[in-house]
Amino acid sequence: MIELTINNKQHKLDLPDDMPLLWALRDIVKLTGSKYGCGKGLCGACTVHMDGIAVRSCVMPISAVKGKSITTIEGLSENIDHPVQKAWLEINVPQCGYCQSGQIMSAASLLASNDSPSDDDIDQAMSGNLCRCGTYPRIRSAIHLAAKLAKEVK
Ligand code: FES
Ligand code: FES
Repeated sequence: MIELTINNKQHKLDLPDDMPLLWALRDIVKLTGSKYGCGKGLCGACTVHMDGIAVRSCVMPISAVKGKSITTIEGLSENIDHPVQKAWLEINVPQCGYCQSGQIMSAASLLASNDSPSDDDIDQAMSGNLCRCGTYPRIRSAIHLAAKLAKEVK
């Protein structure tokens, strides 16, 4: 039995130790906002936060998240009012949308550790999140806007 917190809710799950966290989130807990892209840690579609840090849930065995606090896109804010979500909406970042929950989770993790990221900081932090639709310029603009919005609410 594995105990973990997902979006501030306690869960006790009877799962094999080697099950990837993404499988547990999507198939067992039914949180389907985190997406399956490559399954190899290469695309970022499955990005969630583990104790506030962005991780690739497709390559994170459930045994490695015991006792940790996991946040998925569904738990990032209560009313879609995280500065990153607000900026994403204002700039209308998504195209097909498939990669976007992972992009948002990586962006939120970046801003938690760097409240004024440069273009280089953004490119480096977001380099593992691929977007087949090429929304990169809007993602970068939205992260700058989110940094500004986050400072306004402080
Ligand atoms: S699905 Fe996890 S990194 Fe691609
Ligand atoms: S918006 Fe389509 S893959 Fe990124």
